[in-house]
Amino acid sequence: MSIDVSGFKQGQKAMWTAGDYPEVARRIETVGRFVAERAGAAPGIELLDVATGAGNVSIPAALAGAKVTGLDLTPKLLEAQRANAEAAGVEVELVEGDAEELPFAADSFDRVTSCFGVMFAPRQRVAAAELARVTRPGGMIVVAAWTPESMIGKTFRASAVYMPPPPPELKPPVMWGVEQHVRELFEGSDAELSFELRSVPFIGDSPASWLERDERILGPAVMAKAALESQGRYEELRRDMLALYEDLNEADDGAFRVQAEYLVTVAQLPS
Ligand SMILES: C[S@@+](CC[C@H](N)C(=O)[O-])C[C@H]1O[C@@H](n2cnc3c(N)ncnc32)[C@H](O)[C@@H]1O
Repeated sequence: MSIDVSGFKQGQKAMWTAGDYPEVARRIETVGRFVAERAGAAPGIELLDVATGAGNVSIPAALAGAKVTGLDLTPKLLEAQRANAEAAGVEVELVEGDAEELPFAADSFDRVTSCFGVMFAPRQRVAAAELARVTRPGGMIVVAAWTPESMIGKTFRASAVYMPPPPPELKPPVMWGVEQHVRELFEGSDAELSFELRSVPFIGDSPASWLERDERILGPAVMAKAALESQGRYEELRRDMLALYEDLNEADDGAFRVQAEYLVTVAQLPS
C-alpha cells in the first residue's frame, strides 16, 4: 500500500498527547495486567510492549521479572511511563518509535504485547508483520483490541460521522477486534492463533459525568471537542455521545456501568 500515512501518525501523536492519557489508562489497568500475565511475563523472558503508553502492560510485566522494552510514538507518554516505572521500582527500556517500523532486529523478543495500542497503527498488515518479525521462533504475541460492537467501537463510529473521513484504504482500528480479520493480518506468519473475548467494566457516577471526564482526559474526545467547537458543531456530537452512553448503560440507579468488550489475540509462533 503506497498511501502516505505520516499525517495520520502525527494526528495519533497529537491525540494521545492531548488530555491526560495516564488518567485514562487507569480505566484499563486490569487489561494491562491480564495481557502481561497471558504473555507469561517472568524472569528470563524478554518482552516488547508495542504502543506501551504509560506502562499498563510493561510495568506489571517488569514487576513479574521480565526484561521489558516499551515502544511508543508519543514522547509525553514515554515520560509518564518513566515516572510510573520509577515509582513502581522497576526498569523498563523505553524507545520512541513506530509499530510499523520497529527499530529491532528480527527474532529479538520472546514475547511481544500490545494493549489497545497496535490497533491504532494505520497499516495493519505492516504492523502485524512487524510484531511477528521481532518475535523469536517459539515466541508469542498477545494483542488486546476493542471490538467494533464494544462501547469504544460505538463511540468511534458516533464521532467519525463528524470528522473528515480517513483514506478508504485504511481499516478502522477496531478491525483488530475481529477474529477473521486478525487471521488475515497474520496470514503467512505460520503463527497458531487463538482468541478470547473479554470485557472490562467502566464504572462512573452517571453517563453525563463519564462524558464530562472524557472531555477533559481522553485525547480523542478532547481533540474532537476542540475541532468541532470552532465550527459550532460540538453540541450535536455531545448529544449523540450522551444518548449512546445512556443507551449502553447497564445501571438502573443513575450511575454509569458498562462492560467494554475487547478481543485478545494470542499468536504462538512455531519453534
Ligand atoms: C489507547 S493508548 C494505549 C496505551 C497502553 N498500551 C495502555 O494499555 O494503556 C494508544 C497508544 O498507542 C500509541 N500509538 C498509536 N499509534 C502508534 C504507532 N504507529 N506506533 C507506536 N505507538 C502508537 C499511542 O501513542 C498511545 O500510547
